Formats: sequence, structure tokens, C-alpha cells
Amino acid sequence: MKIVETVAEIRRELQTHRSKTIGLVPTMGYLHEGHLSLIKRARKECDIVVLSIFVNPLQFGPNEDFERYPRDLDRDAALAKQAGVDLLFCPSVREMYPHEILTEVRVRKVTDRLCGASRPGHFEGVATVVTKLFHIVLPDRAYFGLKDAQQVAVIEQMVKDLHFPVTIVPCETVREPDGLAMSSRNVYLSEEERKQAVILNRALTEVKEQLEKGLLITADEVNRYVRERINSQPLAQIDYVETLSYPRLEPIHHLDQRPIIVAVAVRFGSTRLIDNLLFGGK
Ligand code: PAJ
Repeated sequence: MKIVETVAEIRRELQTHRSKTIGLVPTMGYLHEGHLSLIKRARKECDIVVLSIFVNPLQFGPNEDFERYPRDLDRDAALAKQAGVDLLFCPSVREMYPHEILTEVRVRKVTDRLCGASRPGHFEGVATVVTKLFHIVLPDRAYFGLKDAQQVAVIEQMVKDLHFPVTIVPCETVREPDGLAMSSRNVYLSEEERKQAVILNRALTEVKEQLEKGLLITADEVNRYVRERINSQPLAQIDYVETLSYPRLEPIHHLDQRPIIVAVAVRFGSTRLIDNLLFGGK
């Protein structure tokens, strides 16, 4: 595995591989099994696997955790090598944003709700950095986790709208044995918060069972059920619970439409966790 830090260098490295299938896995590092599952899938499907690690300041709000976002490049590099990455691209902020940036990519409508509403500017930051990474790497395939289902919807819309010559590959959410979705931010949780955080997946799993049995009929019923279950945990503070169409993320009333997403964001202390249930196929 080769580690490269500059745009010029990664372009040079990839020049000799242009006839091969290039897979890109964009991340912000502090790798866990969720990230590794994307790398392993890319390894199976591509000749060359590029992993990017870049904590993108553009997608963090002024009061968010950019500064304290966990970072450990040595550990990440060892895990990446083990998982079969060919090229690890880990540019500095200066390398990615050498001057004030006056261009941004904004995907409308799909960013109006969920994390788009509670984190203004977040998806513009994501779409802009992913555009830059796509232009730098020119991948044939790019791998994204459905744990961030709205991010997948935003990137797929952007790729379609702007004719990016890349196939987006959505990958299943990887979970801890007790069901908590893996996230770099889980390390922020105290022991008690970590225990209570399983309620996100538990509530969504219960909803899935009820939907399969036809016991929940409207989006309001689903949202009410999930809210009640999450509120049973004293440390949980709900940011949002929404049931929407997927991937357009539009409000629905009855649940006869497929697929739908039940998406939640919950704070435990200063840590914000997200999870979702995609029901009726992606
Ligand atoms: P990050 O949070 O590091 O996630 C990188 C990729 O790993 C994303 O596609 C995310 O959905 C996926 N991922 C995270 N946790 C996962 C899990 N438990 N199971 C499966 N996949 C999981 O998402 C970002 O970084 C950034 O927004 C980025 C796309 C890199 C742009 O800066």
C-alpha cells in the first residue's frame, strides 16, 4: 500500500492504472468495521482500491466537532493495508483547500430534511468534497454506507444530475453485536450513554417487525412509536424522528409507498448519533 498526501501525487500514481477498474472509498478516518466493509467490497469488485481519509472542515458547522473529531492515521494505515487498500490518499486541509473556495455543490430538496435541516451547510460540504475527490481520483466505482442513507441519496442525485462517470455502490450498515450502528463518534459515549444508545436500533427493529405484520399504518404512528421507545432512555435527547419516502425524502402519510426510510438522530450528552431503517428495498 502506498500512502500519498498530494493531489499531484495521487493523479500520478493512478495514471498508469487508467485501463483498470478503480474503486474509491471516501472516509474521514478513525476506521471501524463499517469502513472496512466498504473497502472489502471494493477489493472484491475493483482492480485498484483507493481509500481517502480527510476530515473535511467544510461539512462541520461552527459548533460541531471538527476539532475533536477522532484521528489516528497510523492505526488507520495499518487497518487499510490489512484490508487490501492499494492507495491511501490522506491530504491536509491546506492541500484540499489551498485558497478560499468560492464554488460549492448544492443538491436541493433531498437536503431539506433530516440531517440537512439540523446541520445547515453539511451536505453542501459533503457534496463539494466528494466532487473534488471524484475529480481527483476519477473512480469507476465509489462506495458509501447506508448508515448515512441521506448522504447516499444526495450523492446519487448529484452523480445523476451532473453526469459523473461513476457508479455509486450503497453498502449495508455494519453494527456492534448489540445492534448499535458502528460510528467513529461512538468513542465519545460514556459507559452509561453507550448502554442506552442501543435503543436506536432496538426501536427501528421493532418498527420493522410491526411494519412486516401490518401493525403500523401511518408515518405518524411509526414516528410516535419510535419517539416513545427512544424517550424511555433518560439520557436520550431526540433531534429528529422522521418517516419519509426514499430516496427523495418526501413526507408520506400512509405507508403504502416503497421504499420508505425511518430515520433518527439522537443526542447523548454532546454526542449525536444517527441510524435508520430502509423498508421495502433500496
Ligand atoms: P465517514 O463518517 O468517515 O464515513 C465514511 C463512509 O463509511 C460513509 O460512506 C459512511 O456511510 C460509511 N459508514 C460509516 N459507518 C458505517 C457503518 N456502521 N456501516 C456501513 N458503512 C458505514 O461519511 C463520511 O465519512 C463523509 O461525509 C465523507 C463521505 C467521507 C465526505 O467527507
